[in-house]
Amino acid sequence: MFIKAIVSNKYGTPDTLELKEVENPNLKDNEVLVKIHAASVNYGNLVLLKGEPFLARLAFGLLKPKYSIPGGDIAGRVDSVGKDVKDFQPGDEVFGDLSRCGWGGFAEYVSVPENVLALKPVNLSFEEAAAVPMAAATALQSLRDKGKVQSGKKVLIYGASGGVGNFAVQIAKTFGAEVTAVCSTRNISLAKSSGADFVIDYKKEDFAKLKERYDLILGVNGNNPISVYKRALNPHGIFVHVGGSGSQLFQAMLQGPWISMTGSKRIGSFLQRSNQKDLVFIKALIEAGKVKPVIDRSYKLSEVPEALKYFEQGHSQGKVVITV
Ligand SMILES: NC(=O)c1ccc[n+]([C@@H]2O[C@H](COP(=O)([O-])OP(=O)(O)OC[C@H]3O[C@@H](n4cnc5c(N)ncnc54)[C@H](OP(=O)(O)O)[C@@H]3O)[C@@H](O)[C@H]2O)c1
Repeated sequence: MFIKAIVSNKYGTPDTLELKEVENPNLKDNEVLVKIHAASVNYGNLVLLKGEPFLARLAFGLLKPKYSIPGGDIAGRVDSVGKDVKDFQPGDEVFGDLSRCGWGGFAEYVSVPENVLALKPVNLSFEEAAAVPMAAATALQSLRDKGKVQSGKKVLIYGASGGVGNFAVQIAKTFGAEVTAVCSTRNISLAKSSGADFVIDYKKEDFAKLKERYDLILGVNGNNPISVYKRALNPHGIFVHVGGSGSQLFQAMLQGPWISMTGSKRIGSFLQRSNQKDLVFIKALIEAGKVKPVIDRSYKLSEVPEALKYFEQGHSQGKVVITV
């Protein structure tokens, strides 16, 4: 049987992607065949598409992408299962992040190990569920594991309106933190409705000049010198670099260890690692009504190049999803 999939045979722009008919993936004994209903777009899709930064090619293929079907986050229905699969059965509605098991989410079907999937939150559509895995896990792990978020702590999310930032505001609130969101004027109401206690409009206020101090700052987007974040931390405060400009990343990686070793404040960078336990944790938050994905735009499978072009402009409000 043949299925429709978005195929990438060389590194390049979104226009190098083609919608093709490919052979249905073979099902291994430990795998689940998922009929994909929706997928979503993350920064990792751009890395795999372009082979940039160049170091990423060590994992993705030196001269051309070794994973020919991109797409990390998916939601869909289990079609069939291999003989060793224990946790899923045909008909189950599932969601997951395939970025560590060969990608393949921009397609009608994919075969994946069962441990990258969890049952889909019952109160979400497939589109909403596909918006969750990578962005919500990034927000959760950076706040909880690296940022040591706790009830009553003052948390600032810099870049609070995109896929990761919006989940970060909501998830920080579930830990009982007092949350300040930094976003542009057009995203103020989104930040407030997502639970932010305070909002700073970076178009109108210069973060570097603010007097307030924070226990945890999550740098999700933007471009500020690390010294500015350091100054805005309370003694023993933590800055976690999640994303944003390259110079922000390099400064966090180069200066962070020295600042952390020589003073009471901690500066560190962070890399998300998908896992089933966190997916189940996030599903519980969603089903309890504490977290809800925000969808900016939805595109068809054939429109993945347009979706990536829109996403790479860096101004999406919440998540960009693909309906399969
Ligand atoms: N460390 C990890 O493991 C990991 C995992 C996933 C993603 N990331 C990184 O996290 C970052 C965010 O990812 P994402 O998927 O959430 O991106 P995204 O959805 O594309 O973020 C777009 C949002 O960022 C806001 N923004 C743009 N420029 C900004 C600025 N200068 N200051 C504040 N906000 C700004 C935009 O709103 P306005 O333009 O209106 O301000 C928009 O709402 C990316 O850099 C990505 O590489 C890291």
